[in-house]
Amino acid sequence: MSDSSLDKQIQKAVEILHRGGLVAFPTETVYGLGADAKNPEAVRRIFAAKGRPADHPLIVHLFAVEQVKDWAKELPEQVNDLAEAFWPGPLTLILKRAEQVPDIVTGSQDTVGLRIPGHPVALKLLKAFGGALAAPSANRFGHISPTTAEAVCAELGDAVDLIVDGGPCEVGLESTILDLSSGEPRLLRPGGISVEQLTEVLGASPLLSGRDAPRAPGTLASHYAPCTPAVLVAEENLLAFVSQQQALGRRLAVLARRAAPENITAKWLKLPSEARAYARALYAALRELDALSCEQIIIEAAPATKEWLAVRDRLSRATTPRFGSE
Ligand code: TXA
Ligand code: MG
Repeated sequence: MSDSSLDKQIQKAVEILHRGGLVAFPTETVYGLGADAKNPEAVRRIFAAKGRPADHPLIVHLFAVEQVKDWAKELPEQVNDLAEAFWPGPLTLILKRAEQVPDIVTGSQDTVGLRIPGHPVALKLLKAFGGALAAPSANRFGHISPTTAEAVCAELGDAVDLIVDGGPCEVGLESTILDLSSGEPRLLRPGGISVEQLTEVLGASPLLSGRDAPRAPGTLASHYAPCTPAVLVAEENLLAFVSQQQALGRRLAVLARRAAPENITAKWLKLPSEARAYARALYAALRELDALSCEQIIIEAAPATKEWLAVRDRLSRATTPRFGSE
């Protein structure tokens, strides 16, 4: 997109936001569905457009650290160091909320999620708007997050007033969420900023929320999921499992980190074997396979190393049955 056409889009987006409309915009993680965070009616529209339950809090997107004090109070000392190290970037901080934050944004909790996104178009939009945008990922509730403007359109269509196209997202998975509201820092969602990066700045590893730990509202076990049933299969069992399912005559799609052997007839997508490149490509690949309406998507499990933590988290959610596991 040329500079002047982007400027026009941003100008139009700002007008829509000021009158309480919804604008989807690119961030470095995934596309967000934004509304004026100070306008409860506008924020309510986000929930309606996504089909999202009202008790799931939204992340408030800012463009400058100076805005934090308008949204949060009792700032722990780590905030400055984390902001300096990782903002703008894929880190969301959960902090005690300021009084004036609308309840609809926080799901009536006493905390608020804040992030300064790293995408130049997101920053340009936020600065031109001059305020804060409440924005979840721009997908229908529980679906795969969109990493392109086309994917936003497929998810939300007419429910959004404008989609600002910033090309494919660089990180491809949602931000890391770090809770600083309750004493010890706790990781609520792994993402673009790694545990090791956080540890370096915090001086100690954050607590990790395991599957058995209390969940952040909105981090359901089944999330980020394709409509086609998806199953996770260990690397060493992949070929045997695919062959067996193929022999049963099932229509299959496979997502793996290696090329398809010759005897396999299933639709097979090969993703990169490096974690960051894999993360960048994952959601578009899941979308592509989901559109084939196969009976099953078979996904090769990711390596059990720290580089793959965020990918493993999303793959395990994408392959959790939608019903019966919560
Ligand atoms: O990368 C991202 O974070 C993207 C882009 C658009 O910024 N946004 C995103 O938003 O993934 P969403 O709404 O799809 O996921 C936000 C997560 C939810 O799981 C929600 O529960 C959690 O953040 N969250 C937001 N506010 C919270 C709070 N006050 N306490 C605990 N969790 C919170
Ligand atoms: Mg989401």
